[in-house]
Amino acid sequence: MSHAAHPAVYCCLVPYAWIRFFHIASAIGFAGIHGASIVVLYVIRNERDRGRIESILGFSAKTVTAMYLTLVTVVGTGLWLGFEVTIFLRRPWYWLSLALLVVTSLLMWFVAKPFAERIRAACDIRPSGVPRVSDEELAMILRSRRVHVIAAIGVIGLGAVLYLMVFRPNF
Ligand code: HEM
Repeated sequence: MSHAAHPAVYCCLVPYAWIRFFHIASAIGFAGIHGASIVVLYVIRNERDRGRIESILGFSAKTVTAMYLTLVTVVGTGLWLGFEVTIFLRRPWYWLSLALLVVTSLLMWFVAKPFAERIRAACDIRPSGVPRVSDEELAMILRSRRVHVIAAIGVIGLGAVLYLMVFRPNF
């Protein structure tokens, strides 16, 4: 009987199935909540009205705290699972998935967050009523390739973690 096949045998305080339940539920929650930022990223590309762009981006900003909460829960319950079924701690897929989540988050912090802030700043109107950047420059930022770079980082990061979770490859 392997630890991985019958992990409940090795768990005491909280049944293993419940930790797994919260791990999967928080991953679904993360994807659902962060879906707001994903949709916003593409919706604003075709928007030119500064007020509307700011309110659409504001919607994404409102989801950030909940996104971090679900992300921390995913990592926390993932670590908990590892310490319940200690054989996981000796598997590369386990640490690689954790590293990928951290790297994806850091890349988002350094690429996606500044991009959203740049758009917010570009929507600013001076007290005189003149926009801080021209309509052409704003359109250029909105349609920049950075959008696809952010999407690629997120999709590859999330896809790779999902692959490691499901297939648990032995390198
Ligand atoms: C494993 C997958 C992902 C992780 C761990 C992740 C994590 C993060 C983190 C930590 C931030 C910074 C939030 C902040 O402090 O402002 C962020 C922002 C963002 N992410 Fe992701 N992300 C992932 C997937 C994606 C995907 C697939 C997309 C798009 C296709 C995406 C689009 C964005 C956008 C647009 C922002 C900026 C949100 C804003 O400031 O309003 N992310 N992400």
